[in-house]
Parts: sequence; C-alpha cells; structure tokens
Amino acid sequence: MADLTIEGIGQIKPSSIKGDVWLTCIECGKTYPPFDFVIYRCQKCGGLLEVRYENLPTFEDFSGSGVWRYRASLPFEMGVSIKEGNTPLYTVPRIESDVGVEALRIKHEGMNPTGSFKDRGMTVGVRVVQELGVKRLACASTGNTSASLAAYGSRAGLEVIVLLPAGKVAMGKVAQASLHGAKILQLDGNFDECLDIVTKLADEGEVYLLNSVNPFRLEGQKTIGFEILEQSLEEVGRYPDRIILPVGNAGNTAALYKGFRELVASGALKVEDVPKITAIQAEGAAPIVEAIKSSANHVQRWPSVETKATAIRIGNPVNSPKALPAIRGTGGTAITVSDGEILAAQCELAEEGIGVEPASAASVAGLRKLRSEGVVGKEEYVVCLATGILLKDPDAASFAREAPKEIPASVEDVMQAILN
Ligand code: F0G
Repeated sequence: MADLTIEGIGQIKPSSIKGDVWLTCIECGKTYPPFDFVIYRCQKCGGLLEVRYENLPTFEDFSGSGVWRYRASLPFEMGVSIKEGNTPLYTVPRIESDVGVEALRIKHEGMNPTGSFKDRGMTVGVRVVQELGVKRLACASTGNTSASLAAYGSRAGLEVIVLLPAGKVAMGKVAQASLHGAKILQLDGNFDECLDIVTKLADEGEVYLLNSVNPFRLEGQKTIGFEILEQSLEEVGRYPDRIILPVGNAGNTAALYKGFRELVASGALKVEDVPKITAIQAEGAAPIVEAIKSSANHVQRWPSVETKATAIRIGNPVNSPKALPAIRGTGGTAITVSDGEILAAQCELAEEGIGVEPASAASVAGLRKLRSEGVVGKEEYVVCLATGILLKDPDAASFAREAPKEIPASVEDVMQAILN
C-alpha cells in the first residue's frame, strides 16, 4: 500500500465562482461556473471536466436512502428521482469458496429502476438540464444509457433522442427506450461512431449530451462507491480490499475514484482503506487494458471492437484520462476476459439466484482469472459490480442453457421428460 498515490481534489474555491460548486478541467485546471452555460469539456485545452465542491462530506453528513442519501456530496438537494440507488450487496457463498477469497459480495446495480447503474447518473444529469433550461436530451448508447435517459428525460417532460449501433443493442434495452418514449435512431456504425456524431450535435447546441463525458453523470455514479463502503462496514464488518468492475466508457471507474478521493480529502476515509479499482474488459474491446499493460499515458482508440457483452463493446473510452489514474492510483489493475469466460460467469451467478446481463458478469470472470493468477490474494474481501439486470438481454439468457423442450400435454409425457 505504500506506493498508493491518491490524487488530491483541490477544493479551494476560485474567486470567480459564486456558489459552492464549480467545474475544473482535469488537464489544465481552468475553472468554470457549473450552470451559466452548457459545457462538456475545457474550452482552453479540451480536457475532461470534474465537478468540485467547497465543502466535502464525511459519513455523518449522509442520511436517508438511495442516491440522494449522499446529497451532501452532490450539486443539488434532490434530483429528478425514480428512487434510484440503495441496491443490494449479495452474498454468493459458492462462488466465494470456489474462487477462494475471504469474502465476496456482488453489488447488483441491475436492481435500479431501469435495471442498470445509469439511473444514478441520470437522476443528477437530468436535474442539471432543468438548471440549464435545455429541452432536447440525447445520448449514444450500447443500450442501458438510452433506457435510463428515456425514463428520466420522460419523467422530467423532456424530448429524448438516442443513437444506437444497429443490431448491437440487447432487445430489452431498445424496448425500454421505446416504451419511455425516446426517438430511437439506429446507426450503421459502432457505439464510438454514434458518440462522435451525438457529440458534434451537442457542440452545435442541437442537443444536451448525457453520456458519461458529462461530469454531472459521474457525480451520481460515485454514490455506488459510498454505498459499497457503508454496506460493507455494516454487513461484512470492513471495507473491501478491491472493487472489480466491467469497463466500457470508463465512467464508473472514474466515478468511484472521484468519490473515494473526496472522502479521503474530507478525512472520512484513510488512503489505505481505498479499495483497489480493478477494471475488466472483453478481449475484443480492451483499449484500457492495453494502456495499463503497456504503462501508456493515453488510451489508443480501437477502430473495430467485438464481444457478446454488447454493453461494453466500446473502443474509445471517453473517460480514460480519469480512469487510468483511478486504476493506477488505487493499486488496482486491468485485465481482459473472453466471451466464454463472461458467459460462464453469468451462469455461475444465475446458479446463486442472481440474474445479470453478460457485461455485468465480466467482473466475476475477471475475479476468477485474477485469483488464479495470484493477483487477488485469498485474504481479500472483494466486491464485484454487476452493472445490469438479466432481463435486458433475453437473447443472451435464452441461449445460455439447454433449449426448452416441446412435449405433448399429458401427465405421462411431462413425467417422462422430467426423468430424462
Ligand atoms: N456494464 C453495463 C451493463 C453497461 O451498460 C455499461 C455501459 C458498462 C458496464 C460500462 O460502464 O461505461 O462506465 O465503463 N454502458 C453504456 C451504455 C456505454 O450506453 O449503456 P462504463
């Protein structure tokens, strides 16, 4: 733990800022007022922005339930809410003993209102929209962001446009975006190309962008980390040594780190208690793993990507400048898993009663691999993030096991089929 370098959060308020919240460029440090105008990146250098606060909370400042329990760490007292957060931390005794760690818990973010962690970001992000007064919201998505934006945008009475890579989004997610009333545009390109296009439209002022390049989304998502710490203390008796998560655009990786840095800065969390943030990518879409393995300072875009875990089929993770320090600064690591390993882990979780979509199972597949390589020690308490629920991807689930049998409607035939 000695070489752990948690970057500071530098919360000295710039004199130009009126309230107690502002935006800071993570590259050049330029600061901006949060709601005077629409801004996604630094106007001077193009760097990613981070939300900063004059006052950082300790655990005593948290009260209530769900994302807004953590309002003392957020830019508002309340957001556009459908009661997101407060997701369960499940035990998985068989996987725990089979993998061979002291304790293993699954943080099931699929238990959010639209079935993924994206709701934590949207409850804050769509609240910002009300502050800015824009009317048309948009995102590029591998599916879950679109489902969540459709629900939260619609709840706020706003127009929602979603750009999806045609044929590469799980059926349940398209159904959600459709039912919640979003305009769905399926493009003959991958997620990264969808994001390039929607970013251009956002820069031209046509739409307000709610992908995770939007720093307010990450504010909501950092509450996953706060919940993991509080639940762990209560249910396991200590903080996790490590959090393992599936990584696509690397928003969660960045958000967890931001939350932990804030707790360290306020004195609520000791540096040595910050869990190691450990990123898992699919073999066919692994630019972050490539950068970590080669000790690169920048992530190279993968022009073509492929994996059955369609949610993380991403070759140009926009949050990588925030995610690389998160992995390195906490002493974590990044590895790939194959689609076969992902689907096997999905089945293992299902056998413990926990239904997740394929991308979510990457965290458990990654844990298994890291443990077998000796990177994860047997004394560790590990939390694996399950990012989305099983029902989002019925195709992947239906073909995971034996096909259902068709038999005549008689007691004898049913009994025979049971015994066969
Ligand atoms: N797991 C699931 C189920 C996801 O939907 C995503 C991202 C991730 C993991 C990766 O999270 O981007 O924070 O590293 N889905 C986005 C979407 C890209 O459009 O729904 P990340």
